[in-house]
Amino acid sequence: MRTPLIAGNWKMNGSRSLIDTFASTLAATPLPEQVEAALIVPFPYLDAAQRAFQSTSLKLGAQTLNTEASGAHTGEVSAPMLNEFGVCYVLVGHSERRALYGDTDEAILGRVNVALDHGLTPILCVGETLKEREAERTMAVVLAQVDAVLTHLSRDAQKKLVIAYEPVWAIGTGRTATPEQAQDVMAEVRAHLARFDDTLGEELVLLYGGSMNAGNAAELLAKPDIDGGLVGGASLKTDDFFAICQSAG
Ligand code: PGA
Repeated sequence: MRTPLIAGNWKMNGSRSLIDTFASTLAATPLPEQVEAALIVPFPYLDAAQRAFQSTSLKLGAQTLNTEASGAHTGEVSAPMLNEFGVCYVLVGHSERRALYGDTDEAILGRVNVALDHGLTPILCVGETLKEREAERTMAVVLAQVDAVLTHLSRDAQKKLVIAYEPVWAIGTGRTATPEQAQDVMAEVRAHLARFDDTLGEELVLLYGGSMNAGNAAELLAKPDIDGGLVGGASLKTDDFFAICQSAG
């Protein structure tokens, strides 16, 4: 059985006071037990978030990591540092990092490996641009992004990944993929995973991301191959984030 995961990606948003708001909401409204929920906050908030959520089931995530453990890498953060703050998840290959910060497939693979070496669960983000969808290249692009990582991992390592399908045209645009569009792609991703290992497709948690909100989450999460969500904008509002977690339960 795959446990549903709702991961809120704050991106470069949020504040210390928003962490306090989440903590007080959690004290009043516990998360559904059958759902794993995580908040992926900017680095400076990890310390406060770890303290605020330590007695709750809400897990912590980071938005990227460097492949080196330490050294002359101004502005970067390493896996051992994330370990010190109880981080469980780390985003790898988010489309914003691919487009704006030059994350190549090679760099993404390096980040996945270092995350796994340090006991962090990488959430590998894949997805096509609007231009690629219109050119009917969606599956070619998405599967190439999956293969660029999975073909280089051992079976054991493959099983530790979470994959998030995030069509780039749906991110932050309010234009969600329809549940059918998301399901179609994610069913193909799952079928593709079986080529690596018979049980891999059944085992991996697949998330949908791209304008998921309290209003559309239930319909998306009802699809058989959508196990959870990677939620951007809506994860900045406690009511919306908790409502999405309830929909996954
Ligand atoms: P969005 O972002 O929910 O604001 O579209 C999702 C993401 O980029 O992970």
